[in-house]
Amino acid sequence: MMDEASLRCAVFRTFSLLIILLISSVTLTKKESPDVYKGKRSPLEMYKKLFQEHRAIQLEAVKSIQNYGEYKQRHQLVKMTLEKLFKVISEAKVNLTLWGYIPGDPFPENTTIRDGLSKVFENTAMFGDLVLRLPDIVHSTYDKNKDWQLLLGWCYWFCKESGVFDETNGRLLHLMAQEVKLIEREENYTNPFTLESQLKQQKQRHGEKKEIKTKKKKKERKKGPQITRVEL
Ligand SMILES: *[C@@H]1O[C@H](CO)[C@@H](O)[C@H](O)[C@H]1NC(C)=O
Ligand SMILES: *[C@@H]1O[C@H](CO)[C@@H](O)[C@H](O)[C@H]1NC(C)=O
Ligand SMILES: *[C@@H]1O[C@H](CO)[C@@H](O)[C@H](O)[C@H]1NC(C)=O
Repeated sequence: MMDEASLRCAVFRTFSLLIILLISSVTLTKKESPDVYKGKRSPLEMYKKLFQEHRAIQLEAVKSIQNYGEYKQRHQLVKMTLEKLFKVISEAKVNLTLWGYIPGDPFPENTTIRDGLSKVFENTAMFGDLVLRLPDIVHSTYDKNKDWQLLLGWCYWFCKESGVFDETNGRLLHLMAQEVKLIEREENYTNPFTLESQLKQQKQRHGEKKEIKTKKKKKERKKGPQITRVEL
């Protein structure tokens, strides 16, 4: 029988492995769909569709990190995730630079190059999910790491120029850049997941409850004299 501590440890290991798998495996079109051959869909359009599917899985993973264990365990998990994520991106960057790929170039047919691209796109997006949904934990590690900051600057530019990040993913990229201050924050920028925002929301809810209560009391008070008048 496993005791609770070793069970928790096993769960943690499995969860970490799943995340590492998610970071290092990418969406790849092994075989082109018939649509592409007929020219109905460009390889870029095809990739975007797969990217969207992978994004959905990543978002679920990040949401489960949000809900995972205690703060200390979440912190440990996020730290490990970030280390792996930036390592993969960094290697992909070296490869892409070596191969001379520039974002905005036609979407490559060569699957080795596509694999490198996917790693940058998908892991940058995943970093976006992480920093937006677990801001305090991510900042506590990321803000101290100059290499990661430089690398993310490159990622932001690379992804923005790629044509892959539109609509939802474009918004994610834009919010991520504001959260880590790669670009200036818009006046209306807030992250609802920071501890500060959460506390503010709690206070507001508390305040609203009070307001409702006092309103009720006032109404009752107003009613009061009327009743007395009737009695009189
Ligand atoms: C970089 O390229 C090498 C050689 O093609 C490959 O083995 C490696 O997996 C690539 N790394 C990444 C992160 O794409
Ligand atoms: C794909 O690109 C890599 C890196 O430039 C190259 O080594 C490889 O031979 C290419 N593969 C094909 C099938 O062209
Ligand atoms: C924030 O302001 C910018 C322009 O300054 C605007 O484009 C954006 O839609 C606003 N966002 C929200 C959530 O109101």
